[in-house]
Amino acid sequence: MKNQESILVLDYGSQYNQLICRRIRELGVYTELLPFDSSITKVLSLQPKGFILSGGPASVYDENAPKLPDWILKQNLPVLGICYGMQLLAEKFNGKVKSSSKREYGPAQIEILNSSPLFQDVKSGSHCWMSHGDEVSKVPPQFHVIARSFSGLISALGHEEKKIYGVQFHPEVSHTPFGKILLKNFLDICGCEFTWNLSSFIEDSIQQIRELTKNEKVICAVSGGVDSTVAALLAAKAIGKNLHSIFVDTGLLRKQEKEEVVSILSKFPMSFHLINGAKIFLEKLKNVKNPEEKRKIIGRTFISLFENRAKPLKARFLIQGTLYPDVIESSQDQNKLSAKIKTHHNVGGLPKTMKLSLIEPLRYLFKDEVREIGKKLGISNKILQRQPFPGPGLAVRILGEINKGQISLLRRADAIVREEVEKTDEITRLWQFFAVLLPIKTVGVMGDKRTYENVAAVRAVHSNDGMTASYARLPWEVLDRISSRIISEVKGINRVVYDITPKPPGTIEWE
Ligand code: XMP
Repeated sequence: MKNQESILVLDYGSQYNQLICRRIRELGVYTELLPFDSSITKVLSLQPKGFILSGGPASVYDENAPKLPDWILKQNLPVLGICYGMQLLAEKFNGKVKSSSKREYGPAQIEILNSSPLFQDVKSGSHCWMSHGDEVSKVPPQFHVIARSFSGLISALGHEEKKIYGVQFHPEVSHTPFGKILLKNFLDICGCEFTWNLSSFIEDSIQQIRELTKNEKVICAVSGGVDSTVAALLAAKAIGKNLHSIFVDTGLLRKQEKEEVVSILSKFPMSFHLINGAKIFLEKLKNVKNPEEKRKIIGRTFISLFENRAKPLKARFLIQGTLYPDVIESSQDQNKLSAKIKTHHNVGGLPKTMKLSLIEPLRYLFKDEVREIGKKLGISNKILQRQPFPGPGLAVRILGEINKGQISLLRRADAIVREEVEKTDEITRLWQFFAVLLPIKTVGVMGDKRTYENVAAVRAVHSNDGMTASYARLPWEVLDRISSRIISEVKGINRVVYDITPKPPGTIEWE
């Protein structure tokens, strides 16, 4: 980002890293999450005003524990270590860290022992949220203890002159109610001016896309969903007619989807290309059962179609609407300390030898932030409120092997789920609602005759960002209508079940 103050969060593998970034953005400061071992050149190019060290699963005394980078203390900038980050700082300044006999997980209260600008406006006795098995057992010389937990463990320490601080609890989670005050105090200590907002994000992204692509032609992958539409519009604002948006009919789309998307996107201010890829996707997926393999094949097939279309245009860049949750679940957040859940087609599913250079302006944002940006760009509510639909489409909702017959079954069952839910008020509260086709048959009886047909599962979930989800308690009447319509209208399905698994432990999609 040009002329943009930033706070850099160094990634030590905590599952809450993205929340730290999000809170800093909400407070009005640009932030990026970087691998803990990033190069100093990369770090300085982002003009940091301070650093946050994230939590992480390691113990500082583990042999291969991720370390504090050499360059960090030489910058003489404020540092805030969270959980593992605090323990790293304590160790670096000759304190001691050990496995604690009183592990703290979940809610806790802290007593403030010494005042510090980091804790301005935070009351002693405040509630916070902890998740640690190690503790700082000896405070480093020159540091003072700012707070202890009610169970007596060090919860916050600081070196006021150097502006280096550590907190054992997680200020980024909503269960630490004063967390945002503490993070704001840290940003004040860093001398931040709080000038970042989503409008400046739009301006910066447009400027960056222009600078990166110069006067070249660029292709952009669009699906009709909110993420790719926002990415495409940002790019259209940046480079106008040099932008070629490409929509692929994978043959794995929902009923009427191709027609709807083409009619919306062909009106946007950019050249629009439709690729009919149904045959090739079906061929490539023949006999493939394994979900990860499916996802990778789909990712690669998308790219090869994009590359074919880019060639005659002499385009070198591909713009995608990848979001942060896609990145984290595919375990492609740069230092790979977090676990892989599934390979999102647009992240981990990309081939290693890709010829196109990727531009992903939304890579660090969450869906609700992207919807806000979409609103500012004037995108219609119809697109902004569309439920997420994964790039691999119905392929990850037909468990196991895929063929035309199953695609048609699922497409019809899914259309019924959507039609029935769309008639209710529930729709505004739901994140996603869809049908899944199971690779099993069960016995039934219809019109006095035995049936032996497929099972459809219905999934409807609430979520804020797709990272966690709870199943929706759809009214019985809605479930009744869905079930009886699917069974009477979709020949080949004789049983409907409802998925009541939250995420975690389930994921939203079944594959
Ligand atoms: P899971 O199934 O991992 O999904 O709980 C979280 C959210 O991500 C969507 N999803 C995808 N989106 N490409 C996408 O563009 C993918 O490969 C992909 N896989 C899952 C899913 O629909 C849900 O909203």
